[in-house]
Amino acid sequence: MGELQNLISIHDLDRKMIDHILDTAAEMESVAVNRSKILDSKIMAVLFFEPSTRTRLSFESAMLRLGGSVIGFAEAGVSSAGGKGETLADTIRTVERYADIIVIRHPLDGSARVSAEFSKIPVINAGSGSEEHPTQALLDLYSIRKMKGKIDGLSISLCGDLKYGRTVHSLGMALSHYDVKIKLAAPQALRMKPAIIEQMKKSGADVVEVETVEEAVKDVDVIYTTRIQKERFPDVREYDKVKDRFRITVDDLNLMREDTIILHPLPRVDELDPEIDNTPHAKYFDQVYNGVILRMAVLKLILG
Ligand code: CP
Repeated sequence: MGELQNLISIHDLDRKMIDHILDTAAEMESVAVNRSKILDSKIMAVLFFEPSTRTRLSFESAMLRLGGSVIGFAEAGVSSAGGKGETLADTIRTVERYADIIVIRHPLDGSARVSAEFSKIPVINAGSGSEEHPTQALLDLYSIRKMKGKIDGLSISLCGDLKYGRTVHSLGMALSHYDVKIKLAAPQALRMKPAIIEQMKKSGADVVEVETVEEAVKDVDVIYTTRIQKERFPDVREYDKVKDRFRITVDDLNLMREDTIILHPLPRVDELDPEIDNTPHAKYFDQVYNGVILRMAVLKLILG
């Protein structure tokens, strides 16, 4: 077993471990290009009970670049959990007999933690409900460090759906380990839960809340914006009320500093004008590639 046992929550990692993961990711840059055989005897099972493009495919790409093999499913409906009502616990106790590590995405908060409790092999949380997406937060930190040369000393806006967006919950907590100024920018209905803000402040974060795009984009090093998570709203009419309320357009670029970068975990819908894609501010497709690098690091640290 490697240096990490599981990766379930960003809350389980201190700054020393986060920096170690980011340093290991930097070492993976050349391995990603040249390929390696360090995990050639290992099998990764990807259990995706919710849709994904980036997380699943970047985990698979990461494992293949390290010489390992991949099994799994990309939607609940083709598994016995979706088709026949098998419990998550029984699914995990079955898959652990086929693989060396489980990567799971599931619509329920707490699903990754429960999986780890039943599993004899390591488990990685690839997104659990609206609660957490720890490997996304780590790749976001890695992207910020790679693009800005540091994390300490930066001002960062987290924008959009801060209520249901699991990426911002994990990233907010991860950033709290660093000396950063955090702007939480969202309409009232999509504010981050006060309990999470309290946890961030308790960990030492310098946090302010704003409500408009104009306030969000001014005078920051990094703008991290997110999709309004339609699928998490209990009532779709509530989604319709807010869906157009936080959109960054090319006109907003005039309010930004020249060196401000824009990140987005993707997928995007309407919240980020495609006209921004060809400007120097747009870094979200470079961020996508960092997902492979960071996930190679996590697999190496757990299985290597
Ligand atoms: N960022 C992210 O989690 O993307 P996918 O839903 O495509 O995996």
